Formats: sequence, C-alpha cells, structure tokens
Amino acid sequence: MSTLLLVRNGRRAVSLTGVGRRGTDALSGVHPVARRSIIDLSYSAHFMDFQGSSIPSSMKKLVVNKLSPNFREAVSTQTVAIPTPGDAELLVRNRFAGVNASDINYTAGRYDPSVKPPFDAGFEGIGEVVGLGLSASSSYTVGDTVAYFGSGAFAEYTVVPAKESVPVPAVKPEFLTLLVSGATAYIALKRLGDLTKGETVLVTAAAGGTGQFAVQFAKQAGCHVIGTCSTNEKAGFLKSIGCDRPINYTQEDLAKTLRKEYPQGVDVVYESVGGSVLELAVNSLATKGRLIVIGFISGYQTASGIPHFKGGTLPVKLLQKSASIRGFFLPHFLSDYKEALGSMMKMIAKGKLVCEVDCGDMSEEGRFVGLESVFRAVDYLYAGKNLGKVVVEVAPPPVSNSKL
Ligand SMILES: NC(=O)c1ccc[n+]([C@@H]2O[C@H](COP(=O)([O-])OP(=O)(O)OC[C@H]3O[C@@H](n4cnc5c(N)ncnc54)[C@H](OP(=O)(O)O)[C@@H]3O)[C@@H](O)[C@H]2O)c1
Repeated sequence: MSTLLLVRNGRRAVSLTGVGRRGTDALSGVHPVARRSIIDLSYSAHFMDFQGSSIPSSMKKLVVNKLSPNFREAVSTQTVAIPTPGDAELLVRNRFAGVNASDINYTAGRYDPSVKPPFDAGFEGIGEVVGLGLSASSSYTVGDTVAYFGSGAFAEYTVVPAKESVPVPAVKPEFLTLLVSGATAYIALKRLGDLTKGETVLVTAAAGGTGQFAVQFAKQAGCHVIGTCSTNEKAGFLKSIGCDRPINYTQEDLAKTLRKEYPQGVDVVYESVGGSVLELAVNSLATKGRLIVIGFISGYQTASGIPHFKGGTLPVKLLQKSASIRGFFLPHFLSDYKEALGSMMKMIAKGKLVCEVDCGDMSEEGRFVGLESVFRAVDYLYAGKNLGKVVVEVAPPPVSNSKL
C-alpha cells in the first residue's frame, strides 16, 4: 500500500465560536498559519503530522494519582506513549495550558466523586493539530491552530474531540484566557447579573484570570466598577482596564471603604473569594442587589474545600433588601458558550478586550516553561501573585525540519 502526499489547502474548520477562520484573519497582528503538507495515512484512519517525523513516540503528562487539594501531593509527571486520535478526534500538540484556581478542586476529586485516580489534569490548552481521525479531517487539517476546554491539558499532547475544539487564528496565550476565565465572566454577568447602566458592581479577585473580564464586561455595560486586589501594581492594572475604584485590601479596610464610599450599597457582586469576603459582600448589597457566587478560593486549600461562612442571618438580610444570591458554574451554561466565545473574539479583533496573561516572568524562578512548571504556577496563583490569567508555556514553537 503506497503512502500519498497530500496538501490540504483551502479546508475550512467549523468554528465553535461562530467566527470562522475567514472571520478572524482580520485580527490585528494575527496572520493565518501557513498550510503544511501531510501524509495521507487514511488506510490507518489517521492523518499524522508529516513534519515529524517530529512527533516523538512518548510524551510527558501530569496525572492525578491521589486525591488531594495539595497539587504537589496529588499530581506526578508521567512519561507515556503519545495517544492516537479516534475517528472524530484531534491530536493537539499543546503550546500553552491555562492554570485555574479550580485545578486543586479537580485534584481533590470535588468535581465528580465517582472519578477515581489515576486521571489527567489541566482544563484548557491551545496548540497545533498534529494528527486527526478521518471524520475530524472534514473540518480540520494538520497545522490548524486550536484551543479547547476539556480535561488533560497538562500534557505535551492531548487528544481532543474535534467538535469541542475552537479554531483560533494563532497560538497566542491571549486566546486561552477566553475559554474558562473570559467565558465565566461573560456568561455569568449576562445571565445572572442583570446589569443596568449606572449600577455599581463589585468584583473580588478583580485582577485575576476571571476577575479582569468581569471588570471589563461590567464597565462595558455602563456600570461603576469596584475591584478588590492585594497589591498596588494590580490596582494600577485595574485602573488601566477601566475599574473606577480599585481597592487594595492590604492597604485599605474593605468593609470601611465600602461603607464610607458606597453607603447605598452595591447592586451586583461577582464574588470569587468566599468566607469573610462573601459575608462582607452580602452585607454590602444594595436593595434588590444580586450576588453571583463564582467561587470561594479562600477555602479550596482546606480539607473540605469550603471556607467558614456565618450564614444564620442570611435569609433575613436577603429579605430585608429583596436581594438575591445565585451560584454560577460554567459547565451548566454550555449552551451560551459558543456565543460568548464568538463575541469575545470580535472584541479582541476590535481591540476592545484586554486579556492579561501572566506566564510567571516576574516570579522568583522565572517564566513558567515546560510541564514541570505547572507545579510552580499553581503555587504562584495560590500565593495571590498573579496579575491576569496564569498560563504555562508547555512547549516552545515548533521548528520545521521538513525536507520538502
Ligand atoms: N464558577 C465557575 O464556573 C468558575 C470558573 C472559573 C473560575 N471560577 C472561580 O473564580 C475564582 C478565580 O479563579 P481564577 O482561576 O480566575 O484565579 P485567579 O483570579 O487568576 O487567581 C486567584 C486570585 O484570587 C485572589 N485571592 C483572594 N483570596 C485568596 C486566597 N485566600 N487564596 C488565594 N487567592 C486568593 C488572589 O488575588 P488578590 O491577591 O489580588 O486578592 C489571586 O490572585 C475562583 O474562585 C474560581 O473557582 C469559577
């Protein structure tokens, strides 16, 4: 059986974002990825990257071997064979992976108690398609750049269902910030925030991965935005993205500042910290105020994962203010996902959305490069050192060694 050499020019990917390749090429500074020749291995039902020749036989990935909120205790690096994509799947060479506060909820088994170790870690990645199954090849080809929100992103290569992949115009970490962090802020505020122009919105952990987007979307809705953070540098960043009142809670008393400057209370809270910050936020709600529970990071490192909350008088407080508290969990809102990503991609193209990425360049041991740096990146996030979304550079850009 002979092997055919095919050049698959002109194949268009089906875009989950509704913003196909044609639509996003116009992004400033973003150029379409050059198409490459591939070997048609259709007799084996898989197309594999011609250049590699550049695909090694084994790879590294991070595996959860023991349930624990302590990432270092739960996770170890394993060397395994590179997986083969199934018929409707892509094999993605990960360039960047996103680090989320919830990575430690996942390693602690808090998402799905029925899932037992070992299982793969990491929620989101971006990279290049290096192999794919036959039916996936109707939408994608080798060399396409894709991002995805799915499990197993802390790996050098990940198999991703083609229908869950998002075509992106370039492998830039900025696009990675949209998949979980941006989408959470966009959908939560749109579905549960009920924002009206002129209202006051409080965002906690405002300079972090998802907080930065909540600040910008609330501002775009014409609201007055207050954002909490722990350093002056973060406060400066918040100002730069339109936050009207950054509060560095290490220097200013949050409760006192809110009482003094916002005596009528705040209309909407995008709350990620939990515990005493949640209590304070409830007490700061205005009449008909809406509080969205995005997370409770202050408890994630504990055995239960839940910070202490004095909720005995909660019904009274809510009733007296006709206020409400609602929870938001991104996987429950996937029907809104496509529209959210498409809309955010358009904002990026128009230069209307800042996607701040923190690859640890300013951290003590330097930039997060390679899978091993995920451990440091998780520590960094939990030390509250990040400004923007924490991203690890899994691998350097591919170097073409094709002789064609
Ligand atoms: N519900 C959902 O579907 C969903 C989706 C994505 C994220 N989330 C939630 O959003 C929150 C932020 O997640 P992220 O991944 O975007 O992280 P992040 O905001 O990039 O990083 C966490 C930030 O939280 C702040 N923080 C406040 N108290 C903290 C504490 N006790 N320990 C550690 N950090 C603390 C720190 O900022 P300062 O030092 O400036 O305060 C830190 O930089 C989390 O609660 C997460 O679970 C929820």
